[in-house]
Amino acid sequence: VKLRTATAADAAGIYEVHVSAGGSIPWDSADECREHIQRMTRQGNPPIVADVGGEVVGAMEIWWGQDVPQLGRSLDVSMIDVRADHQRRGVGSALLRHAMCRSRQEGCDCVSVWADRNAIGFYRKHGFAERLLLRRFRLPVPSVPARRRLDLQPVELARLGAPDPAHLRTWRLVHPRQLWQDLSRQQAEPPVWQGGREPRRAIFARRIGLPGHRQAALGVYRLAYWKPDAQTAGLYLWTPAPEADVLRCCIGHAAFLGVSTLTILAYGRTAEQLAELGGIAEGQEHVLFRPNPLGEGSRQ
Ligand SMILES: CC(C)(COP(=O)(O)OP(=O)(O)OC[C@H]1O[C@@H](n2cnc3c(N)ncnc32)[C@H](O)[C@@H]1OP(=O)(O)O)[C@@H](O)C(=O)NCCC(=O)NCCS
Repeated sequence: VKLRTATAADAAGIYEVHVSAGGSIPWDSADECREHIQRMTRQGNPPIVADVGGEVVGAMEIWWGQDVPQLGRSLDVSMIDVRADHQRRGVGSALLRHAMCRSRQEGCDCVSVWADRNAIGFYRKHGFAERLLLRRFRLPVPSVPARRRLDLQPVELARLGAPDPAHLRTWRLVHPRQLWQDLSRQQAEPPVWQGGREPRRAIFARRIGLPGHRQAALGVYRLAYWKPDAQTAGLYLWTPAPEADVLRCCIGHAAFLGVSTLTILAYGRTAEQLAELGGIAEGQEHVLFRPNPLGEGSRQ
């Protein structure tokens, strides 16, 4: 198996890998996957593919940074999939070893992954252990918007510098810097349901002015499904202020936008606050990590 960076010509192969691996497919078509590869390449971080005899049989995406304080500087495996007919032949291991090696080269403290339940055994075998408990919440949004006026400014994510990593209070959006397909679909306002074929996903963001705080919070709403009667948005939140206040602001904003349910993946104190605010716990997932041995990274 040969590992190499993906080019636009690999789009159909990568799309096939994701369809056959059976997880959630991040693109609606191979064409959309091609756009994604081109965007990642422009960002200097193209996907990595596993190639056997000229055929793409596995694909992985990584990025590194420090946006989850509990993890330190981490290299995150945000996607790894092996085509069904090539699983259990060492392809995934080859990709993961590449990520571990890259993590040391980039001077990271660890490799992290938000692991699919079925793949936990695979990561354990490679020395990964559970690190963060992510709790998934569904938060019904009251249909009457908060009366208090909210200080909200639209934000263009593609132009946004990385928000302060210490302020991330939910699990990460697969990161703004990674510019997933969603980000190119960012809209100033959420689309209005008109029946027929609406975009399956949309994303929008607001800077949230916080009374008494110099720095604003950033709320990113990702519309996962867009139905006439159930407008659900995933919420990602960066904020320097006590979260409960900001969470209330975000809920008020969601009501204002006509979103009926927020889904949030949170950990630590934010998870506790969401439970206090009426969030309904819907399950738990794990972030696994594998620390780099001291002295192997460039940060010694
Ligand atoms: C998980 C996945 C990436 C692993 O890739 P792979 O090429 O099949 O894995 P490898 O052949 O390198 O496996 C190495 C070892 O990991 C372990 N392993 C692999 N897949 C496993 C699984 N699903 N459950 C438990 N252990 C697993 C096994 O011990 C395996 O060794 P063995 O086959 O000798 O027993 C791949 O199976 C896949 O794409 N699955 C579907 C999509 C997915 O879950 N992706 C991960 C999202 S976080």
